[in-house]
Amino acid sequence: MEKRDMIYEGKAKKVYTTDDENLVIVSYKDDATAFNGLKKGTIAGKGAINNQMSNFLMQMLEKNGVPTHFVEQLNERDTVVKRVRIVPLEVIIRNISAGSFSKRYGVEEGIVFDQPTIEFSYKNDELGDPLINDYHALALKLATKEEIETIKKYAFRVDELLKAYFKGLNIDLVDFKLEFGRLPDGTIVLADEISPDTCRFWDSQTHEKLDKDRFRRDLGGVEEAYQEVMRRLGIEK
Ligand code: TMP
Repeated sequence: MEKRDMIYEGKAKKVYTTDDENLVIVSYKDDATAFNGLKKGTIAGKGAINNQMSNFLMQMLEKNGVPTHFVEQLNERDTVVKRVRIVPLEVIIRNISAGSFSKRYGVEEGIVFDQPTIEFSYKNDELGDPLINDYHALALKLATKEEIETIKKYAFRVDELLKAYFKGLNIDLVDFKLEFGRLPDGTIVLADEISPDTCRFWDSQTHEKLDKDRFRRDLGGVEEAYQEVMRRLGIEK
């Protein structure tokens, strides 16, 4: 399968049409941004790592009953996925306080919750992805009630599966962001990516950050952190 026309370029990925109208090719870049594009940089090898890691995790989720957009990895950076219409919601699950949760509610990072939280942001760069609730999403017609219920069910299932999987690698899954898409028949599937760009991973013992916070917060060792998660997952590079 080959790339035809580029139809979308985001901060971390490009999307191309193929000769099959129901399939697109996603190509992962090394570019990194933070704070809604204000901070820009590159993370050497990130595209190849995020592509392979996301595919590995999506296949694991798929086997465990979470439908995803994944079809086939073409090479280090490129993957064939089902063409979807993205639901314009960023779905964030948290197991441990960190990031904007700590900032918004004035609590330290690292508080382990009794149960995971879920929140939605309206995916809109001009507005800076504002936090919204289910009722706002319905009012804005971003998704139907049924779709929101399905998305919540899948998001918590993804949390259970990923949390247990990463625990076995001595990694605490602190929080993560998911995006979902609609297939032509309306079926909701997990889309976008699951990677150190979209998850917070802390080493279970040392609490060392193994994710994009190293870039966001200028902590150094960014490439090494991404590689370390790959190594623990046992993915050959
Ligand atoms: P937050 O604490 O900044 O709200 O981030 C929560 C999680 O969502 C964290 O794992 C990083 C991820 N995330 C994204 O994937 N994209 C984004 O644009 C933001 C702000 C966060």
